[in-house]
Amino acid sequence: MASANPFVYGEIVSSGAFADREHERARLGRDLAAGQKIFLISPRRYGKSSLIRDVMKGLAADRVLTVEVTVAASSSYVGFLEAYARALVSADTPAGRLRRWTTELLQAVRPELRFDAQPRGPSRFALAFPTVRTARDAARLAAEVFALPGRIAAARRQRMAIALDEFQTIAAFDGGSVEHALRAAVQDQRAVGYVFAGSEPSLMERMLGPRRPFYKAGPVMRLEKIDERLFAAFVEARFVASGIRTEDGLGTAIVELGENVPYDVQRLAHETWDDVKAAGRRMAGLEDLHLTLTRLLDEQHTVFEESWQRLTLAQRAVLRALVLENGRELLAAEVRSRHRLAGASSVQSALAALVRQDIVMKEDARYLVSDSLYREWVARRTF
Ligand SMILES: Nc1ncnc2c1ncn2[C@@H]1O[C@H](COP(=O)(O)OP(=O)(O)O)[C@@H](O)[C@H]1O
Ligand SMILES: [Mg+2]
Repeated sequence: MASANPFVYGEIVSSGAFADREHERARLGRDLAAGQKIFLISPRRYGKSSLIRDVMKGLAADRVLTVEVTVAASSSYVGFLEAYARALVSADTPAGRLRRWTTELLQAVRPELRFDAQPRGPSRFALAFPTVRTARDAARLAAEVFALPGRIAAARRQRMAIALDEFQTIAAFDGGSVEHALRAAVQDQRAVGYVFAGSEPSLMERMLGPRRPFYKAGPVMRLEKIDERLFAAFVEARFVASGIRTEDGLGTAIVELGENVPYDVQRLAHETWDDVKAAGRRMAGLEDLHLTLTRLLDEQHTVFEESWQRLTLAQRAVLRALVLENGRELLAAEVRSRHRLAGASSVQSALAALVRQDIVMKEDARYLVSDSLYREWVARRTF
């Protein structure tokens, strides 16, 4: 009997913990291998990074050179260029050849290299561009770095696939000029596929609009939620395979409570599994899910309370109404009077503020709390 928790959240999930996405995997893999520039868009925690990792693994097995960089991890434009250049030159390059290879590729911009030899394991390798001072220097460096993939693919006679994750943050670095430079560079790189993944759908959609450099640069994939029934069956099957039988409806209840957001579903499943296991039981049911939920709300209480207290009174009232009304018709007079909300325009600005803070998101005509645990906390612990 397997006894490790079969559910994973908070990190990129791989094969075993992966549900569905067959169609998306196939399409993304095919497009990347064909050198397309793809835009992958969804709210946070839907599974973009996991999908990318999985597809990249498959491509690497087919001798495609793969590189993944999280744009949002950098605090400045030059910092991003350093991280990106480092990832590109070290992709699948033996440590012994790194220095020559890097100097060869980047002579024009005179990188500074540092190797921290470690007693065991790979030596850590850092790359910096100390001569870059002005915005013009940065633009020159960017042109050089953005051209690298094409040169690497040609020199190694390999196709490449590059993922720039949390790509929406790139616009903050240097106005529109980064977008221009990157677009100009990638469109000539026939042997290099790119996936630009973004977690803020509205920012990403704007980036793809007319008059922006990436307009019509390539196919757009909007990652949806996983099919509900499939996900519920997946959850139950994994309980059973790990030696815990499930009461009818447990999978569905977990998916519903998690608003079918992959992260939230895995979190509830993981924590419920842990509690049932710790109690030494062989069967999980709705009662267990409920107990686990109560434990999680207790554990998160301080965090949620802080978040709640940072809100204005008007925002708190709107957030509570939103939870109780399931996110619909919040501007209607009847709903406003039921929850003692002010005028429609002030409700609207409170909603906008909640969306800006990432507490709430809009899905079609409905507002929902981004974190399903926070939603339950608001429903049960506020008045
Ligand atoms: N295909 C999937 N099947 C099951 N769980 C998934 C899947 N994709 C994502 N998840 C869950 O969602 C969490 C967040 O996924 P992640 O790839 O980091 O999302 P994103 O990059 O869109 O923010 C993962 O840690 C995992 O728990
Ligand atoms: Mg991600």
